[in-house]
Amino acid sequence: MANVLELAGVRKIFRDFWGRPRVCALADVDLAVGRGEIFALLGRNGAGKSTLMQICLGLLAPTAGRAIVLGGAPGDLRVRGRIGYLPEESYLHGFLTARETLLLHAGLCGLPRHEAKARAEHLLELVDLRAAARRPAAEFSKGMLRRLCLAQALVGDPELLFLDEPTVGLDPLGTRSVMDLLLRLKGLGRTVFLSSHILGEVEEVADSFAILDRGRVLCAGARAELLAGEGGAARSLEDFFLAAIQGGGRPCGAQARS
Ligand SMILES: Nc1ncnc2c1ncn2[C@@H]1O[C@H](COP(=O)(O)OP(=O)(O)O)[C@@H](O)[C@H]1O
Ligand SMILES: [Mg+2]
Repeated sequence: MANVLELAGVRKIFRDFWGRPRVCALADVDLAVGRGEIFALLGRNGAGKSTLMQICLGLLAPTAGRAIVLGGAPGDLRVRGRIGYLPEESYLHGFLTARETLLLHAGLCGLPRHEAKARAEHLLELVDLRAAARRPAAEFSKGMLRRLCLAQALVGDPELLFLDEPTVGLDPLGTRSVMDLLLRLKGLGRTVFLSSHILGEVEEVADSFAILDRGRVLCAGARAELLAGEGGAARSLEDFFLAAIQGGGRPCGAQARS
């Protein structure tokens, strides 16, 4: 399987106003994500997940190391045009309705008006917001906002989707429907890179994952390989995650893939 994402020795040090190193958010991260898989980046708050994603998107420059996304540099406009991104925080214009929001973004993606309309309707259906299509986003619940942002990330029909904590603010049913949607996207050959600190939701859908802790990849690989315990019995992702974190940063099981 060809890789859509490769990181080699990626380090990110945030500096203070005087240029002095303040936080080492990522320390020599090696990672690879194969085409067509659902990949989950797991880690506690502050582990470096959003930083890593922003480097993949070209929104942050690494202090050292190299990222290759869809065969090119992360900031390359041709690469960006093939990527969708759901940020951790929802950024929407509150005065625009759900439909207007999607039409606006479809227009920004360069779709002609009639295609933009069809795309907006399709996405409203997909994220179950058709009934709220004419309501301004300012009136939306957190879960509705998250689903609208997800639809926005899909406007350009991206082949690679970055989702930073996609189910924040969603109730269990909302979470389930997002996970189902990710499986449908995978069925269409799309690659999904998501970050999460909620393990249960990821366990069923992720083909592979990596555990990030204090900026280091503790382990990465295919789910079945990583969760296979002693004697072939499968461990739960939660048990595996806790063992990895409590291992004090030593790699567990498979090594970080490169
Ligand atoms: N712009 C920034 N300036 C300084 N430190 C930052 C900045 N962004 C993130 N950090 C720090 O980098 C570390 C990783 O943060 P982040 O990538 O947001 O973690 P996660 O998404 O896993 O919760 C944290 O210690 C955070 O405080
Ligand atoms: Mg984050």
